[in-house]
Amino acid sequence: MSKIKSLIWGVATAAAQTEGAYRTDGKGLSIWDVFTRKTHKIKDKSNAKVAINFYERYKEDIDIAVSIGLKVFRFSISWSRILPEGVGKINPKGIAFYNNVINYCHEKGITPWITTYHWDLPQKLQEKGGWTNREVINWYADYVTILRDHFGDRVKYWILINEGIVCMGGGYFLGVHAPGKIGIQNFLVSTHHLLLAQAKGFEVLKKKKNLKVGTAISCTKIEPYRNTSRDIKTAKRIDALMNRLFIEPHLGKGYPFQDLPILRRMSKYCIDGDEDKLKVDFDFWGIQTYTREVVKSTWYIPYLGALLVKPKYRNAETSIMGWETYPKGIPYFLNRFSKYDPKKPLWLTECGVALSEQEDDIKRIAYYREVISGMDSVLNEGINLKGILLWTLVDNFEWAEGYIPKFGIVSFDPKTLNRTWKKTAYWLKEYLSNIKL
Ligand code: BGC
Repeated sequence: MSKIKSLIWGVATAAAQTEGAYRTDGKGLSIWDVFTRKTHKIKDKSNAKVAINFYERYKEDIDIAVSIGLKVFRFSISWSRILPEGVGKINPKGIAFYNNVINYCHEKGITPWITTYHWDLPQKLQEKGGWTNREVINWYADYVTILRDHFGDRVKYWILINEGIVCMGGGYFLGVHAPGKIGIQNFLVSTHHLLLAQAKGFEVLKKKKNLKVGTAISCTKIEPYRNTSRDIKTAKRIDALMNRLFIEPHLGKGYPFQDLPILRRMSKYCIDGDEDKLKVDFDFWGIQTYTREVVKSTWYIPYLGALLVKPKYRNAETSIMGWETYPKGIPYFLNRFSKYDPKKPLWLTECGVALSEQEDDIKRIAYYREVISGMDSVLNEGINLKGILLWTLVDNFEWAEGYIPKFGIVSFDPKTLNRTWKKTAYWLKEYLSNIKL
């Protein structure tokens, strides 16, 4: 049997992008609820107060996933729905909501996966410094303990932090995502705390036997623009930032400061014993890759010394996100991760392409076909890939891009919120039923 048949297919979603109900049943504000008030930060000036109202329509969405033939439903927990103040008093209605989601998944025969943190810190914690405050490690550990104790009996697969680099880069360095902080100092200190928190969260979850605990890593293939030693060195620098910073400390390799010298400043925030605390032997790696970047050396960008060569200047095909469409990144990163430890299970925990409202969905099918062929080739090389979770089920709130990019295999009507299957959903249903034969 071709190994491709053994892959598990599922779908990934995130609370802040789908749930809406931002004040319903005792939910506290998250940093995204507050950030979207600055409407100029969001391309279409929208927000996620309603989003696609997964809060009320979760059954419908889970039914769609099941009817397509998907076997995993990955969703994230909104921290401020569970703990409106970020710490302290638990909101029973928040617990009840996620219990309903989990139980409904089981009832319908689809496996629920939890992401503990998909970028929506409680605003109350932001007011105390958020990820820049070292206390966040304990706040996060307490929160994860609550999740484990309430949901760990029915949820086996857990993802701790979703895409550290995007969360920290967008939110604490460039200021384009919530909470809109900028600067290298904010970035370095928050990154260190996020990684320590993740390590502690791992410990908390593993106290319960049988849980499978991993992390989801954003991966972007980085290439030099010219074949010069300066551009090659620049590419190494950016690769260390994008593809190593959030992995190597967990592997016990420390921060990759040799290739990215600015990371030496991290020592300011490290205290004795941190290096050991950062070590984690995850049960699996979650890989998420959407694009490739080509970089050239420049002296006028501080710290990084790199300029991105936009896809349009190198005749590359781009999506509505302005990203180069690059499914070849999938086999590349699966190979690369498998070199860390060939036995460690790998999952594509997100995978997709954004189209505009007007584009024919046939393009998404073409994209997923390429993804399948990439997965097929690495499986034949013996890489331990277990499954693929699509990004995403229904079009949703795409952060600073608002509702403009359409990543879903199902669309929704902005007025009625009614869902409609796209061509990809029909194609996938057919594909999944055929591979079972
Ligand atoms: C994130 C998602 C996001 C997607 C497309 C990933 O970085 O985890 O939340 O919607 O990419 O940008």
